[in-house]
Amino acid sequence: MSVRRDFALSQSLLSHPALELPQRVKSCVSLMTISTTRKLIIAIDGPAGAGKSTIASRLARKLGYANLESGAMYRALALKAILSDTSFDEEAALLKLAEDSHIQLEPTSTGNRVLLDRHDVTMRVREADVTEGASRVSVHPQVRAWMVARQQELGAKGGVVMEGRDIGTKVFPHADVKLFLDADPVVREQRRLQQQNLRGRAAQATAAELRERDQRDRTRAVSPLQPAPDALVLDSTSMSEDEVLRRVEELVKKKLE
Ligand code: DC
Repeated sequence: MSVRRDFALSQSLLSHPALELPQRVKSCVSLMTISTTRKLIIAIDGPAGAGKSTIASRLARKLGYANLESGAMYRALALKAILSDTSFDEEAALLKLAEDSHIQLEPTSTGNRVLLDRHDVTMRVREADVTEGASRVSVHPQVRAWMVARQQELGAKGGVVMEGRDIGTKVFPHADVKLFLDADPVVREQRRLQQQNLRGRAAQATAAELRERDQRDRTRAVSPLQPAPDALVLDSTSMSEDEVLRRVEELVKKKLE
């Protein structure tokens, strides 16, 4: 099976976005109407817990675009490494594993469904061992180059909101709209713990893991997490989701008009 085919999004997902749309307020409808004229590439980057996924998925739904979580691809590879007993530190073996894998992202209204070698691993890839592994496999330049190429194929036709760490800098340096979403580390931690309903020891462990992952993602040699020079950088610490969304929508509207 060719890599290109492995990563191809099902056409039905991209070509019938309207089927996915629930009821909208009027402003959303007008945004969507103009969005049918040109299919943009929208890049949303930022650290874990900054609110990227929520914003990306709300924006994609409003526009009728596909929301692609690039991190899920690194997570799928990390899971494959765990299953095949491959070290997260062996770049060549990880690259080979990636090339031999069938990783699919299927946008749904509640996030991406992740398929690894045709098995649904959506829930599994969110677990702690895979989360850490994803950050570790993502430091390798060859793994990144492979992922970036696949992500470029996925978004090439436009009509996508792609979220990650390097979308605006490496995957789509010419994206139509770039948002870099950040927030105070303590607030990000709290949001993550609330999302996962964690307390006590489990909460402490998850918070420590988030800090470590953050540090690794920001300081790795290749494509460290940083805003593209032309990105709108928003600190969402004291902003509501609606506010953040409004700001991105303004950019989208400008591009579409
Ligand atoms: O977005 P996420 O938490 O699912 O990402 C998991 C890991 O994957 C993250 O710690 C770093 C890596 N990643 C990356 O390096 N580049 C991306 N575009 C997306 C994710």
